[in-house]
Amino acid sequence: MLVIVKEKYEEVSKEAAKLIAAKIRKKPDLVLGLATGSSPLGIYKELIRMHIEEGLDFSKITTFNLDEYIGLPPTHNQSYHYFMKQNLFDHINVDERFVHVPHGMAKDIDKFCSWYEKRIKDAGGIDLQILGIGSNGHIAFNEPGSSLGSRTRIKTLTEKTRLDNARFFADMDEVPKYAITMGVGTIMDSKEIVLIANGKGKANAVKAAAEGPITAMCPASIIQMHQRAYLFADKDASELLIGDYVDNWESVIFE
Ligand code: GLP
Repeated sequence: MLVIVKEKYEEVSKEAAKLIAAKIRKKPDLVLGLATGSSPLGIYKELIRMHIEEGLDFSKITTFNLDEYIGLPPTHNQSYHYFMKQNLFDHINVDERFVHVPHGMAKDIDKFCSWYEKRIKDAGGIDLQILGIGSNGHIAFNEPGSSLGSRTRIKTLTEKTRLDNARFFADMDEVPKYAITMGVGTIMDSKEIVLIANGKGKANAVKAAAEGPITAMCPASIIQMHQRAYLFADKDASELLIGDYVDNWESVIFE
């Protein structure tokens, strides 16, 4: 895993966005995996700026989101559908026909999950997956204990994750208990992974993910096995790392 550290979150976001934009320019029909949560917000802001000011073209890309709460309709202001529209899709020229977010109201969840997996496969697989990390080491909604080979499926959220996300809901009872999530195996099949982490609250998770033992108890740790995974972190999130890192990825990543 290549670790790229910058002082501040804004710089980290800009660097990661620069990498993603370069990939889109190189392959205009890129299959891009998207994440929600506060971590990728800076990346999305920068991609929107590049679209408006530099004409970065999203019209041919296909997107697949990592996860969605079960029981929230796409119009719910805490659904990940809504989040993506508000924070990215409404501001770029992505073609709605090529956008995929798991459906939290699907009648047959298992069938939906199989369909989602097939859809990713039929699109040629995910070229680049953006990921955040939960404070307990989860990726997407693959909580500690998730099988490292898992595919898209329903997961029960841990109390820790529900508590972390409670700030977005009126009260704890409203925080969903289940989600549809790409599996760890699904994520690992992506050709490249950009993991973004910021803030002291992520330092332990980042340490476990980048330098800890590979274990289902920290699903993010499997990324150490990925050939083309890049961790973009700010100083706070990377403060416990002892390994080498770089602050300029361009010479390293582009062949
Ligand atoms: C949620 C999402 C994850 C995200 C995590 C961290 O649980 N399902 O994809 O990485 O939150 O969120 P944040 O970036 O807000 O810390």
